[in-house]
Amino acid sequence: MINVAIIIGSTRPGRNGEAVARWVHDLAATRDDARFELVDLKDFGLPHLDEAMPPAMGRYDLPHTRKWADKISSFDAYVFVTPEYNRSTSGALKNAIDFLYAEWHNKAAGFVGYGSLGGARAVEHLRLIMGELKVAGVSSQVALSLATDFENFSALKPAAHQERAVSAMLDEVVAWGGALKALRDGTTPARP
Ligand SMILES: Cc1cc2nc3c(=O)[nH]c(=O)nc-3n(C[C@H](O)[C@H](O)[C@H](O)COP(=O)(O)O)c2cc1C
Repeated sequence: MINVAIIIGSTRPGRNGEAVARWVHDLAATRDDARFELVDLKDFGLPHLDEAMPPAMGRYDLPHTRKWADKISSFDAYVFVTPEYNRSTSGALKNAIDFLYAEWHNKAAGFVGYGSLGGARAVEHLRLIMGELKVAGVSSQVALSLATDFENFSALKPAAHQERAVSAMLDEVVAWGGALKALRDGTTPARP
């Protein structure tokens, strides 16, 4: 059974992201085809990238980087719960992604966006970033509208169809996360 992280991509006080991620996690926890864990960027207290060596070198000097690397490397797949800030993902999530390199490779990802247009533009940016890190982003995604899936833009009240969207996205994350395990285990030859 694969391990899937549900990553809260917002660190702002009063963030909507935590409620969104908990809702996704509650739905995921009813499944028996993978293990799901909430990962909160706030728990890692990452500063702006402060490692001397590029992450691609795989040499991490600082304790906060090693703690983050240990956590991220323990998963087979990720669900990124991202706000949309100025048509992109949050700086905090981009920074946390940039800290690491090989830990992300050959894994799967699903996306849950929220914003005035369902966080669609933030997710598009994340998909580009994931491509560079050899993460396979699944097609199905969840797009929560601040206008119709929240009350007063702040209390999460997702429309009924959104549960089906979460389920479809998780189906693909679990399938691809499992399939890519063979590549990570070396049973499928990796090509440069
Ligand atoms: C700095 C900033 C920029 C934002 N830019 C956008 C935007 O470009 N598009 C959008 O749909 N919402 C935008 N919003 C609204 C956010 O999507 C909304 O506040 C959301 O709740 C943010 O997630 P969070 O509460 O988890 O931090 C922005 C909010 C902030 C704080």
